[in-house]
Amino acid sequence: MKFRKLGKSGMHVSIISFGTMAYGGAQYKFTENPVSRQDGLKCLEKAVDLGINYIDCADIYGAFGEAERIIGEFIQEYDRSNFIISSKVMFPMSKNANDRGLSKKHIHESIDKTLKRLKTDYLDLYYCHRYDFATPLEETVNAMNDLIEQGKILHWATSNWRAVQLERTFGITTRLGLRAPVCDQTKYNMFQRYAVEIELPYTADYHGLGIVAYRVLAEKLLTGKYNALNLEDLSVEDKRHFSSYIEKDPLIMEKIRKLSELAQELDISLPQLVYAWTMQIPLVDTVLMSTRNPDRVEENTQSIDIKLDSEIREKIESSLNNRPIPIRRGTTESYVDFTNFVRQHPLAKVGIFPPDLHDF
Ligand SMILES: NC(=O)c1ccc[n+]([C@@H]2O[C@H](COP(=O)([O-])OP(=O)(O)OC[C@H]3O[C@@H](n4cnc5c(N)ncnc54)[C@H](OP(=O)(O)O)[C@@H]3O)[C@@H](O)[C@H]2O)c1
Repeated sequence: MKFRKLGKSGMHVSIISFGTMAYGGAQYKFTENPVSRQDGLKCLEKAVDLGINYIDCADIYGAFGEAERIIGEFIQEYDRSNFIISSKVMFPMSKNANDRGLSKKHIHESIDKTLKRLKTDYLDLYYCHRYDFATPLEETVNAMNDLIEQGKILHWATSNWRAVQLERTFGITTRLGLRAPVCDQTKYNMFQRYAVEIELPYTADYHGLGIVAYRVLAEKLLTGKYNALNLEDLSVEDKRHFSSYIEKDPLIMEKIRKLSELAQELDISLPQLVYAWTMQIPLVDTVLMSTRNPDRVEENTQSIDIKLDSEIREKIESSLNNRPIPIRRGTTESYVDFTNFVRQHPLAKVGIFPPDLHDF
């Protein structure tokens, strides 16, 4: 295994790490195929055998806490200090109006439940699962700082926060002398490149923020299942599922085919090509993967030894033909993208995001 420091923290994370979102149950309606406890435990065991030390979780994973319980059961067999364990807080855990968001009340109550389910005294990393427009940022930063002071967490982090939100956070931590987040867990893949390649680098470099990349297989588009398919071959359900990718890139299926041909030439699988490519993006500290299949844990982990030289990387870029171009100063494109996303998000309906986005 190879390790990197997570941001400017002193903590070493394996460059491939293990996610447990589908473990134990369906998380809201997004997880179609929950992973059973038994399969989950086998994959965790394989991951640890291969040297993976970072296990990622969230309070909501596996239908509200079940994934945390599975990890809790799993780590009892090991020395706790072998692991970096993370969980997250933010999404509604019940109908209780305070059982959601990043208020001091919710953060303090959530961490105790999370630690109990994980059967551990502390988390290595605690993420704010999204930005909470309904809670003053200072309240959230103070609450995370409290948890560090109390020894319940070692570091705090964010997930999918925008550069401007992170900059505000660092402004607060510097002004008040509080602990700053050590990384952002960011959606990043060959078709969704803007955040990691354009938006976050300046903020991340300046503040020493690490990046944990997730969704690198682009919701299964890059697993190999779609290698030989054209757009018209996709089922109605798949077309709906991948609509955001297809709308942005009508040539996506041809690109997937070209990438799979390149993987074949290199005698590796498409997921291996994708993981190897992602690991070599300078800003990325670790790449999250998840599966129900121990053989796939091994296959994905082998990508740490795959070197993609500049010629192959150029071939990948010319197949993708989507290298993001920095937006010129003064344009509003990223603002417009994000406000539309927020307005359409299901959480806008339960008041997590404000209807009025002037704050952003
Ligand atoms: N911060 C956030 O908001 C957020 C959101 C989503 C996910 N995450 C984290 O990221 C982790 C990974 O989730 P993800 O959405 O990024 O999923 P992913 O790891 O990109 O893909 C998962 C899917 O790909 C399939 N797969 C994995 N390796 C494969 C291989 N070698 N060949 C073929 N298929 C393969 C798996 O199917 P099988 O199970 O059938 O193998 C699985 O359903 C989560 O568990 C969670 O920890 C974070």
